Amino acid sequence: MKEEIYKKKKQTGDHAPNLDDYAKVASEFTWKDARPYVDWFDGSLNAAYNAVDRHVQTWRKNKVALYWEDEAGNEKKYTFDELSLLSNKVGNLLKDFGVERGDRVFLFLPRIPELYFSFLGILKIGAIAGTLFSAFQEQALCDRLENSGAKVLLTTRDLKSRVDAIRKKLPELKHILVVDEPTFTKSVEKSSDVLHIAQTDPDDYAFMLYTSGTTGKPKGVVHSHRAVVQEHMTARWVLDLRDEDTYWCTADPGWVTGIAYEILGSWSNGVAALVYAGRFDPDRWYTLLDKYNVTVWYTAPTAIRMLMAAGQDLVKKHNLSHLRHLCSVGEPLNPEAIRWGLKVFGLAFHDTWWQTETGAICIANYPCMDIKIGSMGKPVPGLTASIVDDKGQDLGINKEGNIALKPKWPSMMHTIWRRPQKYQSYFTNGWYLSGDRGMLDKDGYFWFIGRADDVIKTSGERVGPFEVESALVAHPAVVEAGVIGKPDAMRGEIIKAFVVLEKSVLESTKTKAAQEKLKEELSQYVKKHLAGHAYPREIEFIDKLPKTRSGKIMRRILKAKELGLPVGDTSTLEDY
Ligand code: PRX
Repeated sequence: MKEEIYKKKKQTGDHAPNLDDYAKVASEFTWKDARPYVDWFDGSLNAAYNAVDRHVQTWRKNKVALYWEDEAGNEKKYTFDELSLLSNKVGNLLKDFGVERGDRVFLFLPRIPELYFSFLGILKIGAIAGTLFSAFQEQALCDRLENSGAKVLLTTRDLKSRVDAIRKKLPELKHILVVDEPTFTKSVEKSSDVLHIAQTDPDDYAFMLYTSGTTGKPKGVVHSHRAVVQEHMTARWVLDLRDEDTYWCTADPGWVTGIAYEILGSWSNGVAALVYAGRFDPDRWYTLLDKYNVTVWYTAPTAIRMLMAAGQDLVKKHNLSHLRHLCSVGEPLNPEAIRWGLKVFGLAFHDTWWQTETGAICIANYPCMDIKIGSMGKPVPGLTASIVDDKGQDLGINKEGNIALKPKWPSMMHTIWRRPQKYQSYFTNGWYLSGDRGMLDKDGYFWFIGRADDVIKTSGERVGPFEVESALVAHPAVVEAGVIGKPDAMRGEIIKAFVVLEKSVLESTKTKAAQEKLKEELSQYVKKHLAGHAYPREIEFIDKLPKTRSGKIMRRILKAKELGLPVGDTSTLEDY
């Protein structure tokens, strides 16, 4: 464990951070103290009301909430009042389509303004919003829409064909609304902008996201309206958001970060947010930071590493002097990235740790706290985190074990949709086990070590090896496949597949050229059927996969061989 410390100067007066004394607040705060920070209606709580409508009663009514820009340079902006009225209209329209409280309404949309106000509209009528990356292809969509039993789907003309192809398999899907078709725009126009906002119980379900584990299909992680309490407090304490900020979270709402810190936690703090609906491009990103005078920026390590690779000269072309606070999430933030941030922006990226299941930031570096470079920081006030063994026994300091949290915290998931046993499997001896391994030091800082399972993190995206293996074996040339995450300097990990080929295919692909062609075809096949980002960048043909006697693929052995490490215990292994 390195002890490289970035010492912070104490800031006072107007510049004092929202959380100015971590130790004091962490020792005193309980979640009851957060009550006054969000708006309740007689004990009920609606997360979307808190994100936008509460501001309409205040001077923030005509404040810009959303600055939007796409790759082509089209620009739009929306005030809190406009977002409130548009989400009311969508809420009323959905009611006309028969959507009731508890129904699932899914959004298969790129980062267009409709995604944001529709998300809010769904929550405002007490339905459950589900988000889907626009990179998803048929198989990924089908798994998610089928399991959730979505009643209505909002999509675009471009994306709709992927849904049409699987429609027969989705009997519960009653309506597909195409947001860039005139029928939709006209219906929204005609729809009333007066809506009775559902007075949801804090524990009523609000939104859900599918995420991957090691085995089986993706899991539908369900969050309740109460999540907004922790999302609000962490946006305040960790992102340090203030009224005068222009804030940019680079995440997509298909990912929990885009929901918690692009919609709910950030807007509930009344901040103006930038959304860029375009691909990553270093020059464009700096142009956006400059043009919108971004002050607080929340991004991910892969993006930071790609910016580093684009060089310092590019940074110098832009005026980024208004940046004041930088945060990162999703994968280990390497020390070089922090040092680079200090060199080129004069600011440290603050690492934050959390998961789809935790619903909000749980461990973080705070503006008031020195950073031990390479550490994820300390638990959010109100939360107890520890390192425990597999039986849920606390291991104390300086021991490697499972990163665990003490239930419940306000944004903790409420269930795994239609899989209650899967939900129960997260808890051991009164702890929530995150599936991450880590260590706690004597000063209370947490250090990330790695995943306890085979889940892959590629460019910050969480990918289950089983999904990729299933997509590969659907190809006629493939008999079996084993998929691992292979360490990669830029993307954290890349997806690598070991593939056993059909006998006749094996015979007809003896030349290197034929093999390379088939590898490319298999990569494209996964891209086309599963998702644009979840395809193997590397494929290796092998004769046989290492398996347990009961037939389970031993991915850890594939990984050890790939990395040239000892394969460890092979006593449960079938002849190999
Ligand atoms: O392995 C951890 C990694 O991302 C996983 C959660 O992924 P997801 O559910 O997609 O949510 C990510 C956005 C909140 C974790 O189990 N992870 C997340 N943050 C960090 C991290 N790994 C290291 N350092 C982090 N700061």
